[in-house]
Amino acid sequence: MPEPRILVTRRIFPEVIERLSRHFEVESNPDDVLWTQAELAQRMADKDGAFTTGSHRIDKALLAVSPRLKIVANMAVGYNNFDVEAMTAAGVQATNTPDVLTETTADFGFALLMATARRITESEHYLRAGQWTRWSYDMFAGGEVHGSTLGILGMGRIGQGIARRGAHGFGMDVIYHNRSRLSPELEAECKARYVGKDELLAQADHLVLVLPYTPESHHAIGAAEIARMKTTATLINIARGGIVDDAALAEALKDRRIAAAGLDVFEGEPSVHPGLLEVPNVVLTPHIASATVATRLAMANLAADNLIAFFEKGAPLTPVNRI
Ligand code: DGY
Repeated sequence: MPEPRILVTRRIFPEVIERLSRHFEVESNPDDVLWTQAELAQRMADKDGAFTTGSHRIDKALLAVSPRLKIVANMAVGYNNFDVEAMTAAGVQATNTPDVLTETTADFGFALLMATARRITESEHYLRAGQWTRWSYDMFAGGEVHGSTLGILGMGRIGQGIARRGAHGFGMDVIYHNRSRLSPELEAECKARYVGKDELLAQADHLVLVLPYTPESHHAIGAAEIARMKTTATLINIARGGIVDDAALAEALKDRRIAAAGLDVFEGEPSVHPGLLEVPNVVLTPHIASATVATRLAMANLAADNLIAFFEKGAPLTPVNRI
């Protein structure tokens, strides 16, 4: 039997490419060229599987010209770059990388919350610009973190990690909203209370978004939702761009309708809405919530494990769909 042919769509750890090469005939992308969808389609035409990172869409058009494709392993827990329905209809297995990034991403969510509430990047820019000439009682005075109300929209594994950090580490009162309520045991462990979305918006001092991006969650936070938040509140997005209406958020930050925002993800990233670049009260990071060396390596290895298990044992470890 010839070895299955695998396409790795972005530059990844050389040791993971080496591992894959022991099992498959691999075409990799060591120069990290950002292929267009048409260039991707050309390369996919003779491949049995693909290792992706979320940079490319796996949609009907691509599936139609990928006759041999049997599996696409995303090196990400989110898979909004997949048309899962189309993949299932085409008999293509989809996999993601849950669990291995949960705690690292929750750490980052909390770091972004702290940086936003305590105005860390804004004050650093001020210092670097040589503007610091004296101590002042209200210089970069931010919002309190300990003892405040932490609101979480989307209470999956990462949301629960953020809840635990807030409740156990910072004595925060944690409220959450989710499609479904957690079990009483998990609520007790996270010290989190379920509330409706309107109450979440109205009560949170810090609102963290950790929900998946779907047609239903598109612009879940827009002008109307921001208007319901406290004027002293912060908004943190570590989920996906598109969940927040960035244009509405930029306007709200400019008019100080909320105090500040911390954003790791953006609509149409790597482009960032120009209005967000103009206001000082926002901390902006380039989609790095899961970016520690150990976690990114664990994600890459899990995506590779999925390909190996699928071709050698008939079932991947962390499937997204059933085919
Ligand atoms: C994920 O795993 O979904 C992260 O956002 C990295 O893309």
